[in-house]
Amino acid sequence: MSGDYQSIRAERRNQPMGPNHGYYLAGRPPEDPELTHVGPGTPCGEYWRRFWFPVELTEQVTELPRRLRILGEDLVIFRTREGEYGLLHLHCSHRNASLEFGIVEADGLRCCYHGWKYAPDGTVLETPGEPENSPIRHRICHGAYPVIEYKGLLFAYMGPPDTRPPFPVYDTFNWPGHDLVPYRISYPCNWLQVAENTMDPIHTVYLHTRVSNVQFEPTWGVTPLIRFHNAERSLYSTLTYRWGDNIWVRTQETVFPSFSGVGAFWEDAAREKVFFRSSITKWTVPLDDTNCMIIAWRHFGPGIDPDGRGKRDEVGLESVDFEGQTEQRTYLQRQLTPGDYEAQISQGLISSHAAENLGVTDQGIVMLRRRLREGIREVGEGILPPRPAPEDTDIPLYIQDTVYTIPLLDGEDDDALKTAVTDAVMEVVIGGDALRGEARRTFIEDGLRALKSDPRFAPDRAPYPAVAEK
Ligand code: FES
Ligand SMILES: [Fe+2]
Repeated sequence: MSGDYQSIRAERRNQPMGPNHGYYLAGRPPEDPELTHVGPGTPCGEYWRRFWFPVELTEQVTELPRRLRILGEDLVIFRTREGEYGLLHLHCSHRNASLEFGIVEADGLRCCYHGWKYAPDGTVLETPGEPENSPIRHRICHGAYPVIEYKGLLFAYMGPPDTRPPFPVYDTFNWPGHDLVPYRISYPCNWLQVAENTMDPIHTVYLHTRVSNVQFEPTWGVTPLIRFHNAERSLYSTLTYRWGDNIWVRTQETVFPSFSGVGAFWEDAAREKVFFRSSITKWTVPLDDTNCMIIAWRHFGPGIDPDGRGKRDEVGLESVDFEGQTEQRTYLQRQLTPGDYEAQISQGLISSHAAENLGVTDQGIVMLRRRLREGIREVGEGILPPRPAPEDTDIPLYIQDTVYTIPLLDGEDDDALKTAVTDAVMEVVIGGDALRGEARRTFIEDGLRALKSDPRFAPDRAPYPAVAEK
């Protein structure tokens, strides 16, 4: 369908009134449903239902049940008085009253209308208005999903029970010196355009620095050398900046379908460092086709924020401590210094890919969509996405920041030098894949520190010549 639209549009460019006349270009082509629609039974919805992902902040689930909408399903989440979490289909199996108005009891949730009671696993425990010994409760199946509480977030698995993967615990969830604070922000738009942000690193130069003044650090206004790479379960990018005599290598990663980590947004590349990890660990989770949320941890503590730049008391429900992430500013402020929130929701309720014109800086977006489409089609064919080993509770991520002082030599090509430094950094980081915990951390930190005295980057090295364009 989008192909038709593009050819009609191309034809109209030749009209005598001129190619830009709005009449010939009016209307928006439709979205790509294969990548954006997530309801039950849709290809992308089935794909999403093969992963664990967070659905709510633990602190939001109190003695009152809480209504949620996730992957186009209306749900209720609650915590029994005995401390067990339940995630159920919202409408009571008796006569459809919403369980958000129910009463939490010791072992379940009781519907407000006629008192039926549900266990966290969906078992109907009581049907008090029915005759004693009525068999009706044994005939009823009420939808329920498994829930795991982890570090202030409640994770759900909404797929078939027999394809349930192990709960994934990545290395940055337990990094020394990091203290995780959960937060959640609602976005009134499709999940994909929010999730794509991490694979669109060039926007940081413009949106966050040159257009909206300096929202983070002046370093972000330097155009980095950007490269994208495929890994088995993820895509990662390396962004390499020249800042005075320093070279800053940042690695960002997006693990499918939408989990990502980002280094410190206050990074000023002023001091040498090796293997600093995430300041944000986030999931972009679809609520339905036109709403999503970022549900995440901000990382505080000396291991990521030695100068105490973060503001912990600004992190929580619909709030985070860096600019341009929510709707909470005035419209004028949002117009004058727009941030990620404005850029992403303004792409439309569901951004139309057919209306885009992607350039060379959009390679990460192209790769992300291609991998996502492959994953969605594979699930349609019964092939499961890569999953962690059950005993693996420290899955390696590549997200990191490393800064070295390596002045540019006379006659040297800086892009060639930055490429060599980046390759050397990533060789060390990837070289630790088979290790876990302290062993991996020590291996990588020692390897990266050793690069500081590596002859390839010493002041007496032969200058790196420009690499000829192929
Ligand atoms: S509708 Fe819930 S008990 Fe009747
Ligand atoms: Fe951004």
